[in-house]
Amino acid sequence: MPLAPPAPRSRMEHAHSRHRVLGTRAAVAGLALSLLLSACSGSGEEPPPDPPDASESPASPQGSAQHMTVVAPEDLGGIGEYTDSRSQSGVDVELSYPEVPAAASLTDRIRERTERAVEDFILAIPDAAGITVDWELTAAAEDVLGIRLTTEEEGDEGTRTAYETLWYDAVTGHTADSTELVANYEALSVLAGLAADEARAEDNDADVDGDLILPVARLFNSIGFNPRGDLVVEFDEGKTADAEAGRVFAVIDGAAVEPLLSDLGQRARDAATGAISEFELSPPPEETPDSKEAPGVLPPRDDGVDCEASGTKCVALTFDDGPGPRTPELLDTLAEYDAKATFFITGAPTRLHSDTVRRIYAEGHELGNHTMTHPQLTRLSDSGVVNETAPLQAMIRRETGYTPHIVRPPYGATNDSVQELMAEGGMAEILWSVDTLDWKDRDSDKCANRAIRGARAGSIILFHDIHDTTIDAIPRILRELEEKGFTFVTTTQLLGETEPGETYESADDS
Ligand code: NI
Repeated sequence: MPLAPPAPRSRMEHAHSRHRVLGTRAAVAGLALSLLLSACSGSGEEPPPDPPDASESPASPQGSAQHMTVVAPEDLGGIGEYTDSRSQSGVDVELSYPEVPAAASLTDRIRERTERAVEDFILAIPDAAGITVDWELTAAAEDVLGIRLTTEEEGDEGTRTAYETLWYDAVTGHTADSTELVANYEALSVLAGLAADEARAEDNDADVDGDLILPVARLFNSIGFNPRGDLVVEFDEGKTADAEAGRVFAVIDGAAVEPLLSDLGQRARDAATGAISEFELSPPPEETPDSKEAPGVLPPRDDGVDCEASGTKCVALTFDDGPGPRTPELLDTLAEYDAKATFFITGAPTRLHSDTVRRIYAEGHELGNHTMTHPQLTRLSDSGVVNETAPLQAMIRRETGYTPHIVRPPYGATNDSVQELMAEGGMAEILWSVDTLDWKDRDSDKCANRAIRGARAGSIILFHDIHDTTIDAIPRILRELEEKGFTFVTTTQLLGETEPGETYESADDS
Protein backbone atom coordinates (compact mmCIF):
# COMPACT_ATOMS: atom_id res chain seq x y z
CA MET A 1 0.00 0.00 0.00
CA PRO A 2 1.32 3.45 -0.82
CA LEU A 3 2.53 5.27 2.20
CA ALA A 4 2.84 8.93 2.91
CA PRO A 5 6.37 9.92 3.80
CA PRO A 6 6.87 11.46 7.20
CA ALA A 7 6.37 15.17 7.18
CA PRO A 8 9.00 17.59 8.41
CA ARG A 9 8.55 18.47 12.02
CA SER A 10 6.82 21.70 12.69
CA ARG A 11 7.80 23.75 15.68
CA MET A 12 6.18 23.59 19.07
CA GLU A 13 5.38 27.32 19.17
CA HIS A 14 2.90 26.74 16.44
CA ALA A 15 1.16 24.11 18.44
CA HIS A 16 0.56 26.64 21.16
CA SER A 17 -0.60 29.36 18.82
CA ARG A 18 -3.15 26.94 17.48
CA HIS A 19 -4.53 26.50 20.92
CA ARG A 20 -4.76 30.23 21.36
CA VAL A 21 -6.63 30.54 18.12
CA LEU A 22 -9.23 28.03 19.12
CA GLY A 23 -9.14 28.81 22.79
CA THR A 24 -8.55 25.25 23.86
CA ARG A 25 -6.04 23.64 26.15
CA ALA A 26 -2.88 22.04 24.84
CA ALA A 27 -4.28 18.56 25.30
CA VAL A 28 -2.33 16.78 22.60
CA ALA A 29 0.94 18.62 22.57
CA GLY A 30 3.95 16.92 24.02
CA LEU A 31 2.72 13.35 23.96
CA ALA A 32 5.08 10.62 22.97
CA LEU A 33 4.04 9.14 19.66
CA SER A 34 4.03 5.71 18.27
CA LEU A 35 4.31 5.63 14.53
CA LEU A 36 2.21 3.08 12.82
CA LEU A 37 3.05 4.57 9.53
CA SER A 38 6.74 4.65 9.23
CA ALA A 39 9.49 3.17 11.29
CA CYS A 40 12.09 5.50 9.82
CA SER A 41 10.38 8.45 11.43
CA GLY A 42 11.17 6.94 14.79
CA SER A 43 9.11 7.97 17.73
CA GLY A 44 9.29 10.93 20.00
CA GLU A 45 7.46 14.12 20.42
CA GLU A 46 5.49 15.26 17.47
CA PRO A 47 3.68 18.57 17.61
CA PRO A 48 0.30 19.05 16.02
CA PRO A 49 0.24 20.89 12.72
CA ASP A 50 0.53 24.57 12.15
CA PRO A 51 -2.76 26.35 11.81
CA PRO A 52 -3.35 28.22 8.64
CA ASP A 53 -2.29 31.81 9.17
CA ALA A 54 -5.37 33.96 8.94
CA SER A 55 -3.38 36.96 7.72
CA GLU A 56 -2.39 35.05 4.60
CA SER A 57 -5.80 33.58 3.93
CA PRO A 58 -7.30 32.12 1.97
CA ALA A 59 -4.60 29.49 1.86
CA SER A 60 -4.77 25.75 1.72
CA PRO A 61 -4.30 24.11 5.10
CA GLN A 62 -0.72 23.54 6.14
CA GLY A 63 0.45 21.05 8.70
CA SER A 64 1.91 17.69 9.50
CA ALA A 65 1.02 14.71 7.35
CA GLN A 66 0.65 12.73 10.56
CA HIS A 67 -2.19 14.79 11.93
CA MET A 68 -5.59 15.71 10.75
CA THR A 69 -5.90 19.17 9.32
CA VAL A 70 -6.57 21.86 11.89
CA VAL A 71 -8.56 24.75 10.51
CA ALA A 72 -8.87 28.08 12.21
CA PRO A 73 -11.06 30.29 10.07
CA GLU A 74 -11.06 33.99 10.85
CA ASP A 75 -14.82 33.93 11.02
CA LEU A 76 -16.04 30.81 12.79
CA GLY A 77 -19.35 30.94 10.95
CA GLY A 78 -21.47 31.10 14.08
CA ILE A 79 -19.70 28.39 16.05
CA GLY A 80 -19.86 29.05 19.75
CA GLU A 81 -18.21 27.20 22.58
CA TYR A 82 -19.64 25.57 25.68
CA THR A 83 -17.37 25.31 28.66
CA ASP A 84 -18.00 23.77 32.05
CA SER A 85 -15.83 23.07 35.02
CA ARG A 86 -17.36 21.04 37.79
CA SER A 87 -16.90 18.27 40.30
CA GLN A 88 -19.06 15.23 39.59
CA SER A 89 -19.04 12.34 42.08
CA GLY A 90 -15.71 13.72 43.31
CA VAL A 91 -14.19 13.73 39.82
CA ASP A 92 -12.85 16.94 38.25
CA VAL A 93 -14.72 17.49 35.00
CA GLU A 94 -13.48 20.11 32.52
CA LEU A 95 -15.49 20.37 29.35
CA SER A 96 -15.04 22.49 26.30
CA TYR A 97 -16.90 21.72 23.11
CA PRO A 98 -18.53 23.61 20.24
CA GLU A 99 -22.12 24.70 19.99
CA VAL A 100 -23.38 25.22 16.47
CA PRO A 101 -26.83 26.79 16.32
CA ALA A 102 -27.09 26.10 12.56
CA ALA A 103 -26.46 22.40 13.18
CA ALA A 104 -28.68 21.31 16.05
CA SER A 105 -28.09 17.60 15.53
CA LEU A 106 -24.34 18.15 15.79
CA THR A 107 -24.59 20.14 18.99
CA ASP A 108 -26.92 17.52 20.49
CA ARG A 109 -24.66 14.65 19.49
CA ILE A 110 -21.53 16.28 20.89
CA ARG A 111 -23.26 17.04 24.18
CA GLU A 112 -24.71 13.53 24.40
CA ARG A 113 -21.37 11.84 23.60
CA THR A 114 -19.43 14.05 25.96
CA GLU A 115 -21.77 13.64 28.91
CA ARG A 116 -21.96 9.89 28.29
CA ALA A 117 -18.16 9.69 28.18
CA VAL A 118 -17.97 11.50 31.54
CA GLU A 119 -20.59 9.23 33.11
CA ASP A 120 -19.03 6.05 31.78
CA PHE A 121 -15.57 7.09 32.89
CA ILE A 122 -16.80 7.73 36.42
CA LEU A 123 -18.73 4.45 36.50
CA ALA A 124 -16.07 2.25 34.91
CA ILE A 125 -12.79 3.49 36.33
CA PRO A 126 -11.96 2.98 39.99
CA ASP A 127 -10.34 6.05 41.51
CA ALA A 128 -11.32 8.21 38.57
CA ALA A 129 -9.67 11.56 39.26
CA GLY A 130 -10.35 13.87 36.35
CA ILE A 131 -11.61 14.08 32.80
CA THR A 132 -11.00 16.89 30.34
CA VAL A 133 -12.63 17.28 26.95
CA ASP A 134 -11.28 19.72 24.33
CA TRP A 135 -11.99 20.28 20.68
CA GLU A 136 -10.78 21.66 17.42
CA LEU A 137 -12.11 22.03 13.90
CA THR A 138 -10.61 19.70 11.33
CA ALA A 139 -12.76 20.80 8.40
CA ALA A 140 -15.18 23.63 7.80
CA ALA A 141 -17.14 24.24 4.63
CA GLU A 142 -20.64 25.17 3.63
CA ASP A 143 -21.68 21.52 3.43
CA VAL A 144 -19.55 19.75 6.02
CA LEU A 145 -18.03 20.34 9.42
CA GLY A 146 -15.50 18.12 11.18
CA ILE A 147 -15.09 18.34 14.95
CA ARG A 148 -12.24 16.51 16.64
CA LEU A 149 -12.73 15.92 20.35
CA THR A 150 -9.82 15.03 22.60
CA THR A 151 -10.56 13.45 25.96
CA GLU A 152 -7.93 13.17 28.63
CA GLU A 153 -8.74 10.83 31.48
CA GLU A 154 -6.87 10.62 34.73
CA GLY A 155 -7.51 7.43 36.65
CA ASP A 156 -5.88 4.62 38.57
CA GLU A 157 -3.79 3.63 35.56
CA GLY A 158 -2.44 7.09 34.86
CA THR A 159 -3.49 9.51 32.19
CA ARG A 160 -4.97 8.33 28.89
CA THR A 161 -6.00 10.29 25.87
CA ALA A 162 -8.84 9.32 23.59
CA TYR A 163 -10.01 10.85 20.32
CA GLU A 164 -13.32 11.11 18.57
CA THR A 165 -14.10 12.97 15.37
CA LEU A 166 -17.69 13.73 14.43
CA TRP A 167 -18.75 14.87 10.97
CA TYR A 168 -21.76 17.07 10.35
CA ASP A 169 -23.30 16.77 6.90
CA ALA A 170 -25.18 20.00 6.18
CA VAL A 171 -26.73 18.50 3.04
CA THR A 172 -28.72 15.94 5.03
CA GLY A 173 -28.60 17.51 8.50
CA HIS A 174 -27.10 14.26 9.80
CA THR A 175 -24.25 14.06 12.27
CA ALA A 176 -22.04 11.17 11.24
CA ASP A 177 -19.63 9.00 13.15
CA SER A 178 -16.14 8.74 11.70
CA THR A 179 -16.77 5.38 10.05
CA GLU A 180 -19.47 6.98 7.91
CA LEU A 181 -16.63 8.56 5.94
CA VAL A 182 -16.17 5.14 4.35
CA ALA A 183 -18.80 3.59 2.13
CA ASN A 184 -19.77 0.54 4.18
CA TYR A 185 -18.57 -2.19 6.53
CA GLU A 186 -16.53 -3.87 3.79
CA ALA A 187 -14.67 -0.61 3.17
CA LEU A 188 -14.04 -0.26 6.90
CA SER A 189 -12.69 -3.82 6.94
CA VAL A 190 -10.32 -2.97 4.08
CA LEU A 191 -9.18 0.14 5.93
CA ALA A 192 -8.61 -1.84 9.13
CA GLY A 193 -6.69 -4.43 7.13
CA LEU A 194 -4.41 -1.77 5.65
CA ALA A 195 -3.68 -0.33 9.09
CA ALA A 196 -3.15 -3.78 10.62
CA ASP A 197 -0.79 -4.83 7.82
CA GLU A 198 1.20 -1.70 8.37
CA ALA A 199 1.43 -2.40 12.10
CA ARG A 200 2.66 -5.93 11.33
CA ALA A 201 5.20 -4.82 8.74
CA GLU A 202 8.67 -6.01 9.63
CA ASP A 203 10.21 -2.58 9.34
CA ASN A 204 7.68 -1.08 11.73
CA ASP A 205 9.27 -0.88 15.14
CA ALA A 206 6.33 0.82 16.81
CA ASP A 207 4.87 -1.66 19.30
CA VAL A 208 1.42 -1.66 17.77
CA ASP A 209 -0.41 -4.98 17.70
CA GLY A 210 -2.04 -5.44 14.30
CA ASP A 211 -4.37 -8.08 15.73
CA LEU A 212 -5.97 -5.40 17.88
CA ILE A 213 -6.93 -3.24 14.90
CA LEU A 214 -10.49 -4.43 14.38
CA PRO A 215 -13.11 -2.99 12.03
CA VAL A 216 -15.48 -1.64 14.65
CA ALA A 217 -16.88 1.85 14.89
CA ARG A 218 -15.75 2.43 18.47
CA LEU A 219 -12.10 1.83 17.58
CA PHE A 220 -12.27 3.77 14.31
CA ASN A 221 -14.07 6.72 15.87
CA SER A 222 -11.49 9.34 14.94
CA ILE A 223 -11.00 9.49 11.20
CA GLY A 224 -10.17 12.58 9.20
CA PHE A 225 -7.76 13.86 6.57
CA ASN A 226 -4.41 15.56 6.65
CA PRO A 227 -3.81 18.70 4.55
CA ARG A 228 -2.63 16.56 1.61
CA GLY A 229 -5.86 14.55 1.55
CA ASP A 230 -4.47 11.33 3.02
CA LEU A 231 -6.76 9.61 5.48
CA VAL A 232 -5.65 9.80 9.12
CA VAL A 233 -7.05 7.38 11.68
CA GLU A 234 -6.01 7.66 15.31
CA PHE A 235 -6.57 5.14 18.06
CA ASP A 236 -7.21 5.81 21.73
CA GLU A 237 -4.21 5.26 23.94
CA GLY A 238 -3.99 1.75 25.30
CA LYS A 239 -6.26 0.20 22.65
CA THR A 240 -3.82 -1.01 19.99
CA ALA A 241 -0.54 -0.63 21.88
CA ASP A 242 0.57 -0.13 25.47
CA ALA A 243 -0.81 3.11 26.83
CA GLU A 244 2.75 4.38 27.30
CA ALA A 245 3.19 4.33 23.52
CA GLY A 246 0.96 7.40 23.32
CA ARG A 247 -1.06 8.38 20.29
CA VAL A 248 -1.20 5.63 17.69
CA PHE A 249 -2.24 6.62 14.22
CA ALA A 250 -2.18 5.45 10.65
CA VAL A 251 -1.96 7.57 7.54
CA ILE A 252 -3.35 5.95 4.41
CA ASP A 253 -2.45 7.47 1.08
CA GLY A 254 -5.27 9.48 -0.48
CA ALA A 255 -5.23 7.47 -3.71
CA ALA A 256 -5.49 4.14 -1.85
CA VAL A 257 -8.38 5.44 0.20
CA GLU A 258 -10.35 7.06 -2.62
CA PRO A 259 -12.35 3.92 -3.57
CA LEU A 260 -13.31 3.35 0.06
CA LEU A 261 -14.89 6.75 0.71
CA SER A 262 -18.57 7.53 0.98
CA ASP A 263 -20.00 10.66 -0.60
CA LEU A 264 -19.66 12.36 2.80
CA GLY A 265 -16.09 11.09 3.04
CA GLN A 266 -15.21 12.73 -0.26
CA ARG A 267 -16.74 16.02 0.79
CA ALA A 268 -15.00 15.79 4.16
CA ARG A 269 -11.68 15.30 2.40
CA ASP A 270 -12.33 18.26 0.11
CA ALA A 271 -13.19 20.41 3.11
CA ALA A 272 -10.05 19.32 5.00
CA THR A 273 -7.77 20.11 2.07
CA GLY A 274 -9.40 23.23 0.63
CA ALA A 275 -8.65 26.86 1.33
CA ILE A 276 -10.71 28.52 4.00
CA SER A 277 -10.81 31.95 5.50
CA GLU A 278 -14.43 32.09 6.49
CA PHE A 279 -17.43 29.93 5.95
CA GLU A 280 -21.10 29.76 6.60
CA LEU A 281 -22.79 26.45 7.18
CA SER A 282 -25.82 25.71 5.00
CA PRO A 283 -29.03 25.44 7.01
CA PRO A 284 -30.20 21.85 7.50
CA PRO A 285 -32.99 20.49 5.28
CA GLU A 286 -36.54 20.47 6.60
CA GLU A 287 -36.50 16.73 7.01
CA THR A 288 -33.49 14.65 7.80
CA PRO A 289 -33.55 11.15 6.37
CA ASP A 290 -33.41 8.15 8.68
CA SER A 291 -29.80 7.22 8.96
CA LYS A 292 -28.51 3.68 9.06
CA GLU A 293 -26.09 2.44 11.67
CA ALA A 294 -22.54 3.60 11.02
CA PRO A 295 -20.18 1.01 9.49
CA GLY A 296 -18.69 -1.06 12.31
CA VAL A 297 -21.71 -0.80 14.62
CA LEU A 298 -22.48 -4.49 14.83
CA PRO A 299 -25.86 -5.92 15.82
CA PRO A 300 -25.82 -9.12 17.93
CA ARG A 301 -27.66 -10.99 15.19
CA ASP A 302 -27.13 -12.03 11.61
CA ASP A 303 -29.91 -11.18 9.15
CA GLY A 304 -28.81 -14.14 7.04
CA VAL A 305 -30.02 -16.64 9.66
CA ASP A 306 -33.69 -17.28 10.44
CA CYS A 307 -34.22 -19.53 13.45
CA GLU A 308 -37.97 -19.58 12.69
CA ALA A 309 -37.46 -21.14 9.26
CA SER A 310 -38.57 -24.75 9.04
CA GLY A 311 -35.66 -27.15 9.16
CA THR A 312 -33.42 -24.64 10.94
CA LYS A 313 -32.33 -25.85 14.38
CA CYS A 314 -30.79 -23.01 16.33
CA VAL A 315 -28.91 -23.39 19.59
CA ALA A 316 -27.24 -20.73 21.74
CA LEU A 317 -23.91 -21.56 23.33
CA THR A 318 -23.29 -19.22 26.29
CA PHE A 319 -20.05 -18.68 28.16
CA ASP A 320 -19.98 -17.17 31.66
CA ASP A 321 -17.51 -15.59 34.07
CA GLY A 322 -14.86 -14.60 31.51
CA PRO A 323 -13.24 -13.67 29.33
CA GLY A 324 -10.44 -16.00 30.36
CA PRO A 325 -6.88 -16.40 29.12
CA ARG A 326 -7.97 -19.03 26.57
CA THR A 327 -11.06 -17.25 25.30
CA PRO A 328 -9.15 -16.12 22.16
CA GLU A 329 -8.56 -19.81 21.36
CA LEU A 330 -12.27 -20.45 21.83
CA LEU A 331 -12.99 -17.59 19.41
CA ASP A 332 -10.69 -19.21 16.85
CA THR A 333 -12.62 -22.48 17.19
CA LEU A 334 -16.00 -20.75 16.89
CA ALA A 335 -14.77 -18.96 13.75
CA GLU A 336 -13.80 -22.28 12.16
CA TYR A 337 -17.42 -23.39 12.42
CA ASP A 338 -18.86 -19.98 11.61
CA ALA A 339 -20.54 -20.31 15.01
CA LYS A 340 -21.86 -17.33 16.98
CA ALA A 341 -22.05 -17.43 20.76
CA THR A 342 -22.90 -15.29 23.77
CA PHE A 343 -20.47 -14.18 26.47
CA PHE A 344 -21.77 -13.17 29.89
CA ILE A 345 -18.75 -11.37 31.25
CA THR A 346 -17.83 -10.04 34.69
CA GLY A 347 -15.90 -7.00 35.91
CA ALA A 348 -12.31 -8.01 36.66
CA PRO A 349 -11.90 -10.25 33.57
CA THR A 350 -13.33 -7.49 31.41
CA ARG A 351 -10.71 -5.12 32.71
CA LEU A 352 -7.90 -7.67 32.41
CA HIS A 353 -8.87 -8.95 28.96
CA SER A 354 -10.39 -5.84 27.40
CA ASP A 355 -8.81 -6.71 24.05
CA THR A 356 -10.68 -10.03 24.08
CA VAL A 357 -13.93 -8.20 24.86
CA ARG A 358 -13.42 -6.05 21.78
CA ARG A 359 -12.65 -9.11 19.69
CA ILE A 360 -15.78 -10.93 20.88
CA TYR A 361 -17.82 -7.96 19.71
CA ALA A 362 -15.93 -7.52 16.45
CA GLU A 363 -16.49 -11.17 15.49
CA GLY A 364 -20.27 -10.93 15.77
CA HIS A 365 -20.79 -12.63 19.11
CA GLU A 366 -23.07 -11.19 21.76
CA LEU A 367 -21.94 -9.58 25.00
CA GLY A 368 -24.10 -9.87 28.10
CA ASN A 369 -23.78 -8.54 31.63
CA HIS A 370 -22.88 -11.06 34.36
CA THR A 371 -22.28 -8.41 37.07
CA MET A 372 -19.08 -6.85 38.34
CA THR A 373 -18.25 -9.33 41.14
CA HIS A 374 -20.69 -12.23 40.69
CA PRO A 375 -22.81 -11.89 43.84
CA GLN A 376 -26.26 -13.36 44.38
CA LEU A 377 -28.33 -10.35 43.35
CA THR A 378 -31.35 -11.42 45.40
CA ARG A 379 -29.35 -10.76 48.56
CA LEU A 380 -28.43 -7.17 47.63
CA SER A 381 -30.20 -3.87 48.17
CA ASP A 382 -31.56 -2.09 45.11
CA SER A 383 -28.54 0.19 44.93
CA GLY A 384 -26.29 -2.84 45.41
CA VAL A 385 -27.84 -4.47 42.36
CA VAL A 386 -27.39 -1.32 40.27
CA ASN A 387 -23.78 -0.98 41.43
CA GLU A 388 -23.16 -4.54 40.24
CA THR A 389 -24.57 -4.03 36.75
CA ALA A 390 -24.29 -0.37 35.69
CA PRO A 391 -20.47 -0.11 35.90
CA LEU A 392 -20.11 -3.20 33.70
CA GLN A 393 -22.47 -1.71 31.11
CA ALA A 394 -20.21 1.35 31.09
CA MET A 395 -17.05 -0.76 30.78
CA ILE A 396 -18.43 -2.73 27.85
CA ARG A 397 -19.64 0.46 26.17
CA ARG A 398 -16.20 2.02 26.55
CA GLU A 399 -14.55 -0.96 24.89
CA THR A 400 -17.02 -1.65 22.11
CA GLY A 401 -19.54 1.18 21.84
CA TYR A 402 -22.17 -1.51 22.48
CA THR A 403 -24.58 -1.54 25.41
CA PRO A 404 -25.71 -5.07 26.32
CA HIS A 405 -29.43 -5.67 26.60
CA ILE A 406 -29.14 -9.06 28.26
CA VAL A 407 -27.98 -10.02 31.73
CA ARG A 408 -27.38 -13.38 33.35
CA PRO A 409 -27.90 -13.09 37.10
CA PRO A 410 -25.16 -15.12 38.85
CA TYR A 411 -26.41 -18.58 39.93
CA GLY A 412 -29.59 -17.81 37.98
CA ALA A 413 -30.84 -16.13 41.14
CA THR A 414 -33.56 -13.56 40.53
CA ASN A 415 -36.81 -12.30 42.00
CA ASP A 416 -39.41 -9.62 41.35
CA SER A 417 -37.28 -6.75 42.57
CA VAL A 418 -34.19 -7.86 40.63
CA GLN A 419 -36.37 -8.23 37.53
CA GLU A 420 -37.73 -4.73 38.02
CA LEU A 421 -34.24 -3.28 38.31
CA MET A 422 -33.13 -5.14 35.18
CA ALA A 423 -36.17 -3.72 33.36
CA GLU A 424 -35.05 -0.23 34.40
CA GLY A 425 -31.54 -1.06 33.18
CA GLY A 426 -32.88 -2.20 29.81
CA MET A 427 -31.82 -5.83 30.20
CA ALA A 428 -33.65 -9.13 29.77
CA GLU A 429 -32.57 -11.96 32.07
CA ILE A 430 -31.15 -14.98 30.26
CA LEU A 431 -30.91 -18.27 32.16
CA TRP A 432 -30.33 -21.64 30.46
CA SER A 433 -32.03 -24.93 29.58
CA VAL A 434 -28.92 -27.14 29.39
CA ASP A 435 -26.35 -27.05 32.19
CA THR A 436 -23.06 -28.73 31.28
CA LEU A 437 -21.85 -28.55 34.92
CA ASP A 438 -18.43 -27.84 33.42
CA TRP A 439 -17.42 -25.84 36.51
CA LYS A 440 -18.03 -28.86 38.72
CA ASP A 441 -16.71 -31.80 36.70
CA ARG A 442 -13.76 -30.11 34.99
CA ASP A 443 -13.91 -32.98 32.52
CA SER A 444 -14.01 -32.30 28.77
CA ASP A 445 -15.80 -35.53 27.86
CA LYS A 446 -18.54 -35.08 30.44
CA CYS A 447 -18.98 -31.45 29.41
CA ALA A 448 -19.24 -32.38 25.73
CA ASN A 449 -21.60 -35.29 26.43
CA ARG A 450 -23.98 -33.12 28.43
CA ALA A 451 -24.02 -30.41 25.74
CA ILE A 452 -24.46 -32.81 22.83
CA ARG A 453 -27.12 -34.98 24.47
CA GLY A 454 -28.99 -32.02 25.91
CA ALA A 455 -29.14 -29.81 22.83
CA ARG A 456 -32.57 -29.26 21.26
CA ALA A 457 -33.72 -26.65 18.79
CA GLY A 458 -34.10 -23.51 20.92
CA SER A 459 -31.77 -24.61 23.73
CA ILE A 460 -29.55 -22.23 25.68
CA ILE A 461 -26.47 -24.14 26.85
CA LEU A 462 -24.39 -22.98 29.82
CA PHE A 463 -20.59 -23.12 29.79
CA HIS A 464 -17.77 -21.24 31.53
CA ASP A 465 -14.89 -20.18 29.30
CA ILE A 466 -12.53 -19.81 32.26
CA HIS A 467 -11.94 -23.58 32.48
CA ASP A 468 -9.38 -25.37 30.29
CA THR A 469 -11.57 -28.47 30.15
CA THR A 470 -14.40 -26.41 28.66
CA ILE A 471 -12.21 -24.81 25.99
CA ASP A 472 -10.94 -28.31 25.11
CA ALA A 473 -14.50 -29.68 24.87
CA ILE A 474 -15.79 -27.11 22.38
CA PRO A 475 -14.30 -28.49 19.11
CA ARG A 476 -16.07 -31.85 19.58
CA ILE A 477 -19.32 -30.14 20.61
CA LEU A 478 -19.31 -27.94 17.52
CA ARG A 479 -18.41 -30.83 15.24
CA GLU A 480 -21.07 -33.22 16.53
CA LEU A 481 -23.86 -30.67 16.87
CA GLU A 482 -23.11 -29.41 13.37
CA GLU A 483 -23.40 -32.99 12.11
CA LYS A 484 -26.81 -33.12 13.78
CA GLY A 485 -27.82 -30.05 11.80
CA PHE A 486 -27.60 -27.35 14.46
CA THR A 487 -26.89 -23.69 13.73
CA PHE A 488 -24.99 -21.82 16.46
CA VAL A 489 -26.45 -18.39 17.12
CA THR A 490 -26.36 -15.59 19.67
CA THR A 491 -28.99 -15.52 22.39
CA THR A 492 -30.67 -12.51 20.81
CA GLN A 493 -30.80 -14.30 17.47
CA LEU A 494 -32.33 -17.35 19.14
CA LEU A 495 -34.94 -15.48 21.14
CA GLY A 496 -35.77 -12.61 18.80
CA GLU A 497 -36.89 -9.45 20.55
CA THR A 498 -36.55 -9.83 24.31
CA GLU A 499 -38.41 -7.81 26.91
CA PRO A 500 -36.28 -6.00 29.52
CA GLY A 501 -36.96 -7.47 32.96
CA GLU A 502 -38.40 -10.72 31.55
CA THR A 503 -36.58 -14.00 32.22
CA TYR A 504 -35.83 -16.56 29.50
CA GLU A 505 -34.50 -20.12 29.71
CA SER A 506 -34.86 -21.19 26.10
CA ALA A 507 -36.57 -20.19 22.86
CA ASP A 508 -39.76 -21.80 24.20
CA ASP A 509 -40.10 -18.77 26.47
CA SER A 510 -40.00 -16.19 23.70
NI1 NI B 1 -21.30 -17.18 36.70
